[in-house]
Amino acid sequence: MKRTVRSYLKPYWLPFVLALGQILFISALELLKPWPFKIIIDSVVNGQPLPLGWRVDSSPHVLLLLACAGLVFIYLLLGGLRLLNDYMTIRIGQWMVNDLRRDLYSQIQRLSLSFHNRQHVGDLMYRITADTLGIQTLTMNGLFSVLSASFLLGGMFVVMLSLDWYLTLLAMAVCPALFGAIGLFDKKMSSAASHARQKESLVYSVVQRTLSGIRVIQAFTKEEDEKHRFLEASRQSLAADLRLYNLQNFYCALVNITIAIGTAAVLWLGTKHVLSGELSVGEMVVFTAYLTSLYTPLVNIFQTYGLVQKAKAGVRRAFDILEVEQSLPEGHKVFSRPATGEISFEQVSFGYETAQPILKKIDLHVTPGQKVAIVGPTGAGKSTLVSLLPRFYDPQSGRVKIDGVDSSEFQLKSLRRQIAMVLQPPLVFPVSIRDNIAYGRPEASLDEVIAAAHVARIHDFITQLPDGYDTVVGEQGSTLSEGQKLRLTIARGILLNAPILILDEPTASVDSETEALIMEGLERLMTGRTTFIIAHRLSTVRQADLIVVMRGGEIVEQGNFFDLLRARGPFASLYQTQFGLYEEERKLRRVK
Ligand SMILES: Nc1ncnc2c1ncn2[C@@H]1O[C@H](COP(=O)(O)OP(=O)(O)OP(=O)(O)O)[C@@H](O)[C@H]1O
Ligand SMILES: [Mg+2]
Repeated sequence: MKRTVRSYLKPYWLPFVLALGQILFISALELLKPWPFKIIIDSVVNGQPLPLGWRVDSSPHVLLLLACAGLVFIYLLLGGLRLLNDYMTIRIGQWMVNDLRRDLYSQIQRLSLSFHNRQHVGDLMYRITADTLGIQTLTMNGLFSVLSASFLLGGMFVVMLSLDWYLTLLAMAVCPALFGAIGLFDKKMSSAASHARQKESLVYSVVQRTLSGIRVIQAFTKEEDEKHRFLEASRQSLAADLRLYNLQNFYCALVNITIAIGTAAVLWLGTKHVLSGELSVGEMVVFTAYLTSLYTPLVNIFQTYGLVQKAKAGVRRAFDILEVEQSLPEGHKVFSRPATGEISFEQVSFGYETAQPILKKIDLHVTPGQKVAIVGPTGAGKSTLVSLLPRFYDPQSGRVKIDGVDSSEFQLKSLRRQIAMVLQPPLVFPVSIRDNIAYGRPEASLDEVIAAAHVARIHDFITQLPDGYDTVVGEQGSTLSEGQKLRLTIARGILLNAPILILDEPTASVDSETEALIMEGLERLMTGRTTFIIAHRLSTVRQADLIVVMRGGEIVEQGNFFDLLRARGPFASLYQTQFGLYEEERKLRRVK
């Protein structure tokens, strides 16, 4: 869907109209501002009649006092209104930023993993936090400045025209010149502005990468290299900013010169008109005062032009993400009761890059409650195959069916609620142990959490921690060992109590004793559920109802353990090399 700034302004039309009203008032007061001067010069000092045929039958002293009081009144009112108007426009801007951030944040969470594979985290963070602020700048420095300048321009044009049309046309002659200047610089400025935005977000990306990879950096003493990388990104960002500032300053200078020429022309001709008696001194004062208050908002607009361009580039970057078509369209079917767990892959082909297929025409049928072991060499596509089930990715061709229905017809939320996953590496959040286990079912009671922890063989460990289940885990689970993190995620999967279970090498990083314990717990969990287990261990594979052997993105063999061994095909040779060796190693370890 195409996004516009207007669509974000729409919900705040009432405050917007109010702000517009204030601006109208402010413009009217601006128009009044020089008139007390005119009255003092023309009527008090030179004794001419009051403008608009007003009559005040009083002495010049009273008139002077009235004019001065009027001046104070106008300034006070103007000050108050300005304050109110600033508050209002800032509020509107902030509301819009907030809405844009909300949309961007939920969009980023919704977007498919293939999108996230391509994007830098730092860049996305920059778009959510910094780029979104642009919508406020656009409204305040862009829209409202232009509107108030236009109101003023319109009002002053009318008043000035009634005083001296010749002079008015002269004063306005600078406008085409100014707009010409905009036209001249527009492209340059906007490309410099979006370049500056891009470079700034690159700095974020570098910092984010360093922070998330700090262990690797320190382990390989790469601090200096990373520092150089950061300084280079920072230097580029500053250089891009400098270019934008330079352009802007050059542009401002051009605008100022144009305006100076305009003012000089008006003064020159105005004074001539005064001397020839066509214009009074007071009117000349009104004229020049108008000229300054007319040029001020114009200069403001041009001075903040770079800022507005940068804001525009930012908002564009935020909108770009919002306009990314969700590559995972939502279905509308829901599971009214838990899935039976019948799953079939029909001619499924998939690649992370379209041109490079990883899975090739996979056909696989799994009956409800079946326990499927997927084996094969590393990079064969085992993890990729199971990631299609919860629709982390959609196949490029073919279908994945759950309970006989194409999985893309289900609502993602309903579909994923049917599937419990224990993935590698185990994902742990920096929240309490309890919240980590209950992540998929936050409403679960503590008893249920403890029961799940028992099954995953992590309960004893948790009770030894200083705060037990309330202990907060470090960033990326840094305060836990790999095996502990793994068991935590197993407990999470157990608590979810879903009819389909995906276990991606659930025991890869634990010792054989813990493995036996965990497998015992998992056995209980697997009964009655359709389970996909990617395993390198013979004991697990042996017990599976169906063994699927993958190689190079294809299923090269499937069947039960004994049939496959008897067939003396790929599984048998895998058995001899991989599992055989593994068992040997285990035996040796036991002897030691
Ligand atoms: N997010 C990704 N983006 C691009 N390519 C990927 C991505 N994840 C995996 N691949 C590629 O897809 C292929 C299959 O990877 P996959 O993780 O499915 O293998 P696997 O069989 O699970 O291996 P392992 O036993 O090592 O876990 C590999 O060649 C890998 O390089
Ligand atoms: Mg894998």
